[in-house]
Amino acid sequence: MAGLHDRKVPRIVAVCGGKGGVGKSTVAANLALAMGRLGHRVVIVDADLGAANLHTMLGVVHPSRGLAEFLDHRVDTLDDLRMPGVGTPTLSLVPGTSRPGSADLEHGEMLRLVRGINRLDTDVVVVDVGAGSSYNVVDLVAAADIKLIVMTPNLTALHNAYAMLKACVHRVVRKLCADETEQQLVDSALAHESKSRTIVQLLDVLRPLDGGDVADRISDTLGRFGVGLIGNQVSSHQDASVLDRIGSMIQDHLMIQAPLLAAIGRSAALAGGLRAGSGTLVDRNDASYPAFRRLAGAVLEVDLDRLRGTPRTPTGTMPLWVARELTPGTV
Ligand SMILES: Nc1ncnc2c1ncn2[C@@H]1O[C@H](COP(=O)(O)OP(=O)(O)O)[C@@H](O)[C@H]1O
Ligand SMILES: [Mg+2]
Repeated sequence: MAGLHDRKVPRIVAVCGGKGGVGKSTVAANLALAMGRLGHRVVIVDADLGAANLHTMLGVVHPSRGLAEFLDHRVDTLDDLRMPGVGTPTLSLVPGTSRPGSADLEHGEMLRLVRGINRLDTDVVVVDVGAGSSYNVVDLVAAADIKLIVMTPNLTALHNAYAMLKACVHRVVRKLCADETEQQLVDSALAHESKSRTIVQLLDVLRPLDGGDVADRISDTLGRFGVGLIGNQVSSHQDASVLDRIGSMIQDHLMIQAPLLAAIGRSAALAGGLRAGSGTLVDRNDASYPAFRRLAGAVLEVDLDRLRGTPRTPTGTMPLWVARELTPGTV
């Protein structure tokens, strides 16, 4: 019989974006629904800690339990919190929490949440990580196989999205360093808001230090970072090409490929209403549905073996930097 350790780690998709109100939860919910409708078992986790509202979007009025139960150790697994059959039979929801203080998880608690997500018994997990660039957010983003960055075509959204991704890269790259000297070089290259170096420049500085070891580790990790951009409330080709240019900038500065995977227009169905239980899931006739359907296809097609890379961690497939922090035997 297959034991817990043989179980496949699900495909983990984080929906993020830095700025509030750009449509992260709307995209997360409709993407999860589209993948569920294709027959995949999907769990959507409301990890917008402190500002949970995914249940409302999915038409669930009063979830009886949510992440607070897991964070307070009243349940051991996220599977215990699943509400099945949300929108389609194969989609279930792990509701979030708006409990004060839940947005400030300690690192150990965050790792337990990441482990809980990795252990969900499902094909795909969609994680709605909420706004900002806090450690809570960037850790959840970094631990996902696929990172979908939602942006609306305006400067603040673009700036926040880039800042969030850069914070995530900084955190991951820092963990790849072998010693404090390397970490200081990474910090001086990436910690500044304006006069920061590109990753290419950083690698040039790091390469002579240890025969290129850390530089290789960094470029390998960033080469399989799994980022995709989502334009929301996009109304013209011009908007879409601005978002595309952000993708080029991410490639030039952070050495990460970030293709534009979807451009979603404005739609009345996505705007939602005031009626409780109505939600913001779109049906197949909505003008925005083809974009979600294509996005679902793109997310499901991503080659996980390539992204997760080798060598495999002892946990099978958990991202290496997460596994490094876990005590052996706890995964
Ligand atoms: N494409 C869209 N067309 C119309 N309204 C949208 C669209 N995307 C999002 N909205 C609405 O914008 C608001 C913010 O979306 P939400 O998903 O909650 O953003 P976030 O999770 O990024 O804070 C919601 O009221 C949502 O219904
Ligand atoms: Mg949200």
